Amino acid sequence: MDAQLVSICQTLSTINSSISNSKTLAQGLQSCVEVLMHDFHLAFVTYWQATQESELQPLHWYGPHDISQHYHVFDDNSLIAKAYASQESQVWDADRQNYASIEGDFPDASIGFALCVPVSSYFTNYGVLQLACERGTEQPTEEQVDVIDMATTLCAITLGKNEPLPHSWARSEPLLKASHIARTFTNGDVQTRVLEDTNFNVYPSELVVLLGESGCGKSTLLNIIAGLDEPTAGTVTFSGHDNTHASEKELIAFRRKNIGMVFQSYNLIPVLSARQNLNLIDELVQNPLDWQEALDLVGLPDKASNLPRQLSGGQQQRVSIARALVKRPRIIIADEPTAALDYDTSIEILQAMQEVLKTGCTIVIVTHNEEICRMANRVVRMRAGKAYEQYINHGPVAATDLVW
Ligand SMILES: Nc1ncnc2c1ncn2[C@@H]1O[C@H](COP(=O)(O)OP(=O)(O)O)[C@@H](O)[C@H]1O
Ligand SMILES: [Mg+2]
Repeated sequence: MDAQLVSICQTLSTINSSISNSKTLAQGLQSCVEVLMHDFHLAFVTYWQATQESELQPLHWYGPHDISQHYHVFDDNSLIAKAYASQESQVWDADRQNYASIEGDFPDASIGFALCVPVSSYFTNYGVLQLACERGTEQPTEEQVDVIDMATTLCAITLGKNEPLPHSWARSEPLLKASHIARTFTNGDVQTRVLEDTNFNVYPSELVVLLGESGCGKSTLLNIIAGLDEPTAGTVTFSGHDNTHASEKELIAFRRKNIGMVFQSYNLIPVLSARQNLNLIDELVQNPLDWQEALDLVGLPDKASNLPRQLSGGQQQRVSIARALVKRPRIIIADEPTAALDYDTSIEILQAMQEVLKTGCTIVIVTHNEEICRMANRVVRMRAGKAYEQYINHGPVAATDLVW
């Protein structure tokens, strides 16, 4: 038996066990994609989910590029649409004969090979898996393409049967758009590259969880999107305005109006009561939220006169969320808000965040706690200074259902 066949069998066997360990179609595809990306050197994968309205919408994407922002280039001639309509794999051949809209579909990436495989059980068309290699890497062989075909079909027939297709979801413009963000710190002769080519969007009224190990660049990225630090390269736009090279004065005004920050260490002023900590912000903004309303929202209606040291860690953190709310910010950015807290208190904080979300506020939470992803609408996973996987969660759970 030749070596290539053995290696394909190994991939198939890994895929088989990943699928049998998965409960949902999305989970099964996710674990298959991890194996396929690793074994077949694929750089970008997107799972386009079919909806009841027969549209394809991106649910989950892997690799540094979020192609979901390019909806407008998705047309009937693209490989994705063809794979969906015909239920047959569509391969972009090397001379690009077969893929007119590839540049549109991947405007930022240098794609060397692309392939769209239907996720279909014959009876139901669940969506399309779109896979691509970087230019210069070896493209998958025909046998490997067959394996991808088998993997998606196996997922569809074993995991898809109990899952109704969702309705199409809204395509709003992003509130915040981070494109190609890079950040290198220079100390004397030493250069530390912390972020490179990081892309992600935040849409209005959603809860985004930015997940990553300690040291992967999460706080650096947050400081950049909050206008506290300038990227070495790339752009950050907020409501369509490019903030990347705004002056310090403009940034202060921008932050004051739009951004509420919550930190791991609360940053309350120790000699001021909860109410006075909130009042400090009142005076800076035009249309502040009433301090009592803010304290009510975070579940501390009767702690207004307590000093920080007369409050538990969790209560202090809730005051700091209330303080962020006083501004009526467009977005709340929370950097590891529960990292210093025990389980029960963390859940209280996350519950408070969920209450705030109900008011229409947009929230970004940075964490290294995987479980918090389950309450998010969108998850961005970071590794070594890059966003390498993102997905939409159609069924966020209540904070009280999280367990760790
Ligand atoms: N001002 C700086 N100068 C040099 N290196 C820095 C600076 N700020 C952060 N770093 C480095 O960048 C990396 C990522 O830091 P950070 O964004 O705080 O990570 P995270 O929040 O994910 O734990 C770390 O290795 C850290 O040492
Ligand atoms: Mg950090």
